[in-house]
Amino acid sequence: MNDLMEKIVSLAKRRGFVYPGSEIYGGLAGIYDFGPRGVELLNNLKHAWWNANVYQKENFYGLDAGMFKNPRTWEASGHVNGFSDPLAECKQCNTRIRVDKELEAVGVTADEKMSEEEINALFDAHREEIACPKCGAHDFTPARKFNLLVKSNLGDFTSEESEPVYLPGEACQGIYLDYKNVVDSMHPKIPFGIAQIGKAFRNEISPRNFLFRTREMEQADTQLFIRPNENKEAYERIKQERMDWYLSLGIHPENLRFKQHENLVFYAKDAWDIEYKYPWGFDELEGIHDRSDYDLTQHMKFSGVDLSYADPETGEKYVPWILETSVGMGRIFLAVLTDAYSEDELGGETRVVLKLHPKLAPVKAMVSPLLKNKPELVAKAREVYAALKKDIPQIAWDDNGNIGKRYRRQDEIGTPFCITIDFDTLGETADLKDTVTLRDRDTGQQERVAVSELSGRIRAAL
Ligand code: GAP
Repeated sequence: MNDLMEKIVSLAKRRGFVYPGSEIYGGLAGIYDFGPRGVELLNNLKHAWWNANVYQKENFYGLDAGMFKNPRTWEASGHVNGFSDPLAECKQCNTRIRVDKELEAVGVTADEKMSEEEINALFDAHREEIACPKCGAHDFTPARKFNLLVKSNLGDFTSEESEPVYLPGEACQGIYLDYKNVVDSMHPKIPFGIAQIGKAFRNEISPRNFLFRTREMEQADTQLFIRPNENKEAYERIKQERMDWYLSLGIHPENLRFKQHENLVFYAKDAWDIEYKYPWGFDELEGIHDRSDYDLTQHMKFSGVDLSYADPETGEKYVPWILETSVGMGRIFLAVLTDAYSEDELGGETRVVLKLHPKLAPVKAMVSPLLKNKPELVAKAREVYAALKKDIPQIAWDDNGNIGKRYRRQDEIGTPFCITIDFDTLGETADLKDTVTLRDRDTGQQERVAVSELSGRIRAAL
């Protein structure tokens, strides 16, 4: 991990954003837990995503499908046969590598559709350039395809041969299985979309880079159902919409870019990524895929159920094509943390500050009494705190340490405002009665604001 990444991981743990999963047992690779601050940031991100993709659109429908699905789902989707990564093991230290990623790092592209023999031919040709990331040896087993689906079991406890059920390899399959239910119950007119934030699980060979490649993730997906061959214009439009959404979160434009896939996964006709400049460089944030009629046609074949759409006006029947946007919440979370992390100087001191967009900040404002041992200050501060919290739930109370330390703590978690109740609030200076100091996170500037105006001021920034 590089320096910036280490600082982000350390801050995330120290300040209650992200913890390593099952840490007291030594952890579990590729699994993380969101702490008290993390879950607030995560929920704010989900809310911003849902707002943009459901509430602000007339023809998009929300969904929350169950994770377990009939096992036929994953045969029809192509995941049982086609969802694999090429794995090799270092013969010296048993470290596992993803051969396609190692080849990519030396400038060679391994096509998703290549057989094991074809990948091994490429691997052999570049073996000298690929070193084990742990021990540096160039001595690997041949690559073999390793299926990424996570198996589980459900129901039939007595039979040894009971069929495995799978945890979702991609959340969007829930949307395809419920597409007919949404059509029959909501009567949408094409083009329409279904949006979902759902869990997905992958047996990633080498989970890495903190929240970037995990084995359990949450995917925020939209599937736009369109008329056949009407994909081009809509595809360009949703690509731009998704890019604009990241900009609306305050992410610096220079850290975002589009990249087209050279190699397409089995379901895609065209695929673009929105990439973010993570601490290790540009890498995939979100995938935008033209899936044509692949998914509905496959599910029609395997289920025997007609999934064509009948136009209510013309009576015309066809299998809709699908344009997908899909992003892991962990990847947005890491992009937003990376983008917001800064170290600057304020009042002659170096500080760490998360310059999060106020709407994403886990705490919108911290309320505190100037002195904790003055009951009249504490009582007034409690009154302001209670009233604000009713209006804006993400408000924190802090009376620990001196005021400077409280500010530093809030800067580190990205709190846009700090509110301090002092003797002037109580009326020591007559014309300042019922006013407080409102401190701005980014500039450190403080101004006097009437208590009655606080809520409006904070809301305006959100
Ligand atoms: N339904 C399409 C699909 O699953 P994908 O490109 O495999 O496509 C979509 O995944 C998005 O999910 C990625 O762009 C990334 O944001 C996220 N994602 C995929 N694998 C991930 C992992 N192991 N850890 C975290 N996020 C992941």
